[in-house]
Amino acid sequence: MPDRYAVIGNPIAHSKSPIIQTAFAQATGQDMSYERLLAPLDAFRATVERFAAEGGLGLNVTIPFKLEAFELATETTQRARLAGAVNTLKRIDGGWLADNTDGAGLVRDLMHNHGVVVSGRNVAILGAGGAVRGILKPLLDAGAATASVSNRTMAKAQGIASHFARYGNVDAVAPDALGRRRHEIVINATSLGMGGAEVALFPFASTVFAPGAFAYDLIYSDRPTAFMRWARAHGATGAADGMGMLIEQAAESFALWRGVRPDTRPVFALLRPGA
Ligand code: ATR
Repeated sequence: MPDRYAVIGNPIAHSKSPIIQTAFAQATGQDMSYERLLAPLDAFRATVERFAAEGGLGLNVTIPFKLEAFELATETTQRARLAGAVNTLKRIDGGWLADNTDGAGLVRDLMHNHGVVVSGRNVAILGAGGAVRGILKPLLDAGAATASVSNRTMAKAQGIASHFARYGNVDAVAPDALGRRRHEIVINATSLGMGGAEVALFPFASTVFAPGAFAYDLIYSDRPTAFMRWARAHGATGAADGMGMLIEQAAESFALWRGVRPDTRPVFALLRPGA
């Protein structure tokens, strides 16, 4: 029997993780299976326990269970603790090791796939939800000079800024004040623009961009996202959606489970043929 892995969420039918992880397994010759696991909204823990009883060795965790996965863990990595959320579980003696590979995936995509220099740069992060807690420390570790966290609800941005201030130069900045500092990297971590909606409602100052800035949307889509279009219209010369982050965080999870780091390039070709 191959070693068993899965992605757990609700809904889960559209997850691309099985395509990505199966491609990694084939390319690295790992004898493993990877499936979709739909957990009822009120039965995350029971579903994970059944999976473990059946021999399951690892899980990717997605919406809406990233916080519950943290609570279920018996061991956590520092980056999972900082994020307060978990996207990867690995079966260990008597329990689960919980990790968060989202931030590492983002930084790797920015630096290796898009050639963006993070070190010494000013980064603006739009939004203050769970995703931001996962990406801030990896961005600071990569050498970001400053991070401006901006959010419609400023109290949430302030909470994040004070929590992460010990790791670097992190400020909470009001959406209409973002232009006071020019940012070479601007990351959309809000849910605005999901489902193709226009971003006319964006509360963020369009002067946030330094000339030649790079814009990154954590959302991914088959077409340039609303945020990417908005960014290009206001001075960003490079823009990407979150498909690369999805692929790179998956590679980080795979490496944690199997001790082998897969080459991600063939998977880009698989998910974005012709790109
Ligand atoms: P995640 O865990 O993916 O980060 P989340 O915690 O639901 O998701 O956060 C969603 C983010 O999108 C928040 O920063 C939210 O802003 P608020 O904290 O003010 O709610 C932001 N967001 C969602 N809809 C928005 C809107 N219409 N205008 C501005 N910001 C919005």
